[in-house]
Amino acid sequence: MKISVIGCGYLGAVHAAAMAKLGHDVVGVDTDPAKVATLAAGEAPFHEPGLAELLLDGVEGGRLRFTTDITETAGAQVHFLAVGTPQQADSDAADLRFVHAAIDALRAVVQPGALVVGKSTVPVGTAADLAVRLAETGASLAWNPEFLREGYAIADTLTPDRLVYGVTDPGQAALLDEVYRVAIDAGTPRIVTDLPTAELVKTAANAFLATKISFINAMAEIAEATGADVTTLADAIGHDARIGRRFLNAGIGFGGGCLPKDIRAFTARAEELGRAESVAFLRQVDAINLRRRERVIDLSVELLGGSVFQKRIAVLGLTFKPDSDDVRDSPALDVAARLHGLGADVVATDPHGIENSRMRHPQLDYVTDVEAALAGAELAVLVTEWDEYRSLDAVRVAELMGSARIIDGRNVLDVATWKAAGFQYRGLGRE
Ligand code: UDX
Repeated sequence: MKISVIGCGYLGAVHAAAMAKLGHDVVGVDTDPAKVATLAAGEAPFHEPGLAELLLDGVEGGRLRFTTDITETAGAQVHFLAVGTPQQADSDAADLRFVHAAIDALRAVVQPGALVVGKSTVPVGTAADLAVRLAETGASLAWNPEFLREGYAIADTLTPDRLVYGVTDPGQAALLDEVYRVAIDAGTPRIVTDLPTAELVKTAANAFLATKISFINAMAEIAEATGADVTTLADAIGHDARIGRRFLNAGIGFGGGCLPKDIRAFTARAEELGRAESVAFLRQVDAINLRRRERVIDLSVELLGGSVFQKRIAVLGLTFKPDSDDVRDSPALDVAARLHGLGADVVATDPHGIENSRMRHPQLDYVTDVEAALAGAELAVLVTEWDEYRSLDAVRVAELMGSARIIDGRNVLDVATWKAAGFQYRGLGRE
């Protein structure tokens, strides 16, 4: 099938490569010529395991190409809309300008009978408006939200947990079944619904995940006041299958390009709909999440005897989670910048996040080698749980630092081992 993907950011680049892998003839469109050149060379513009191989395979196999010229999508039967919907600069609402620009550009090129399929995360109600704007072209609109996680984006796209189609007629669902034939034949659950439900599935899923993380982080706050251990608590309640252990890791909280902005956009949309009360708890979810960063700062001050000023602090991790180079809304980078703002002598390290961090916070000192970051530090703060930080040898770290103090912002270190090596250890919601 001839397919176009409009917008080649995280979502679009992965989707285009995955569609080519499924055997479709794919053209990806982006307004950024540098990104298009990188993708057209079969290279990944960001760190995502498996993406470079898939891109190269598609490009060399002639099933995948990239362009800045949207008119090259004219012959496609299905146009996926994968542009970004960031948070507006001056409010919590989603900025839909890229979605509108894409629809305007598509209106000039789509053929009657073509299907435009939204994948971007949008405020519920957006799709119905876009469908009206497309109607005069003879093309129609469906919504097919994407649930991919960074670091697992290829697998999440090729073998998703479920497929959700928001459609206005059954023919659209049949066409999407052809697009996803491989997954459908493999038994992937498929939910066919209307446009607003499909939009809301995505928003609700992210709101639920964020709530789950903030719930356990709220319990961490209670644990800190009582001497209880939040990791043991999470293990114990997680055994209840109705609760489940996943997404119950307490720590410095969630970040990234999705969860923070999506819960804020949801709150803003609910207010527009006159339903602010229904999701008022999401303000708390956001507030709890941001308080965890403060906690790391407070612990740093406490461990360093009342002030971080001119104290050398090694910050281990900058990305919002491991196996990613993404620092958008990263709690780790925020902690590093705040400590620097308080006058600390911060040395930050990360296996893949330094380049992107430097663009946002050029004032910080970055080193690529974790031992160089730790050397002479009076405090180590582990804020992204990369394997290489989880597996650090406590005795060696103590030797490097000279003063053995560590904050485990992700609760991934073995407390007994680090204490035995002489560390003053602080977790979040334990010890
Ligand atoms: C998320 C959703 O999982 C995905 O379905 C959606 O399509 C996009 O948003 P992603 O942003 O890639 O995916 O990251 P995810 O793995 O969900 O982690 C989000 C944040 O939550 C990270 O900062 C992570 O460190 C944090 N987190 C996750 C916790 O603090 N505790 C947990 O138990 C789980």
